[in-house]
Amino acid sequence: MTYRPRYHFAPPFGWMNDPNGLCQFNGVYHMFYQYHPFGVEWDDMHWGHATSYDLIHWEHKPIALRPGQDYDRDGVFSGSALNVDGVLHLYYTGNVWLDEQREELKQVQCLATSTDGVTFTKHPNNPLITGEPERGNAHVRDPKVWTENGRYYMILGTRDVKDGKVVLYESNDAIHWTERGVIAGETGEHGWMWECPDLFSLDGRDVLLLSPQGMEPDDDRYHNLHQCGYFIGSLDVDTPVYKHGTFTELDYGHDFYAAQTFQDDRGRRILIAWNAMWERNWPEQAEGWTNQMTLPRELSLRNGRLYMTPIEEVTILRRTSEQIDGTPFEGDALELTFSAIGDFTLHCFGDTATFSKQGDVLELKRDGDIRRIKADGRTFRIFIDASSIEVFVNDGEYVFSSRIYSQHRIKHKLSGHITEATLFRFTDNR
Ligand code: FRU
Repeated sequence: MTYRPRYHFAPPFGWMNDPNGLCQFNGVYHMFYQYHPFGVEWDDMHWGHATSYDLIHWEHKPIALRPGQDYDRDGVFSGSALNVDGVLHLYYTGNVWLDEQREELKQVQCLATSTDGVTFTKHPNNPLITGEPERGNAHVRDPKVWTENGRYYMILGTRDVKDGKVVLYESNDAIHWTERGVIAGETGEHGWMWECPDLFSLDGRDVLLLSPQGMEPDDDRYHNLHQCGYFIGSLDVDTPVYKHGTFTELDYGHDFYAAQTFQDDRGRRILIAWNAMWERNWPEQAEGWTNQMTLPRELSLRNGRLYMTPIEEVTILRRTSEQIDGTPFEGDALELTFSAIGDFTLHCFGDTATFSKQGDVLELKRDGDIRRIKADGRTFRIFIDASSIEVFVNDGEYVFSSRIYSQHRIKHKLSGHITEATLFRFTDNR
């Protein structure tokens, strides 16, 4: 049996981290990703590439970007995509190590373009942005670019000596950029480096999504090595000031980072995250590949929270459905839906993991490592793949995403006070 997912996206071989350049170009969905094709560990970053018509079935494409120029010699780091007058623009960070220990680095912002969405040419003006933003340092990366009122905007994640922050740039032509200043961070409250920022409008508010490194655990919150969460606020690009509320974790599982979004031609704001966390073990490396993405999720703002709901296309995977009671069931490509009328426990992958509701506590335990929140869990939609679980509570109000590695990975059991439990078996995409 393999850990390879049946319906989540994973690289054909080699190492994968962040989703990059998510977009829809000429009617086709594109996903790029941080990729090391020559080994199962993180190393000189490339941009892997895949395309899809439904965000569920992906076709692997040739590698889109490789390191090699003076300015991106040691890595083509994360970034985003923008369609500028019919030309696909990929903005990324060029990484260069300045010492053998790979501690000192130089990071610059670069562009590659394509008219066919398959072959990309690095721009002659590269690097478009060099040096460090005001008061910043060498860690400055992960450009997210968007257009608004005929102008182009870019945010970058960066840091001070101890504080993460986001800096805004502006451009008339998507090539020449001017720094406008820091729009968020520098408060000392949210870690020492902000990676992979994303800023987008949703239901009249401006959401800033980010992946801060180094927030300390606080009660039940922030138990992963690094976090991924958001602010809700409003951005005034003229001042420029981003006023916002408190930071909220976006997902409560063990493996969720570097989330990015894009808007598709149906107006949906869709998010995909790296279904992993840095600095852990990856048992799938023995099989020649590393890491998978989360399911794509549609975002909405409800009751002052960001909800994540699996995109509706996920239902095309359903092959059979059956009502289940407390009897054990098997499978490594499943969706389970039910309502809770009291406490319950789902044992999955043998006893490797449990997801349970006890009163107002929802808890996902993996190999004894607990992620827990206080919440009123009423309805549940749970996706089980060969080595992962994603739990959507109350239509996406709370989500838990974790990888689970087990020798007993096809045995599961749901018991407790639940109603209308339906099990869907999925088609095999592998
Ligand atoms: C986030 C990150 C980014 C960087 C990329 C390098 O996981 O550290 O900040 O661009 O990974 O692969």
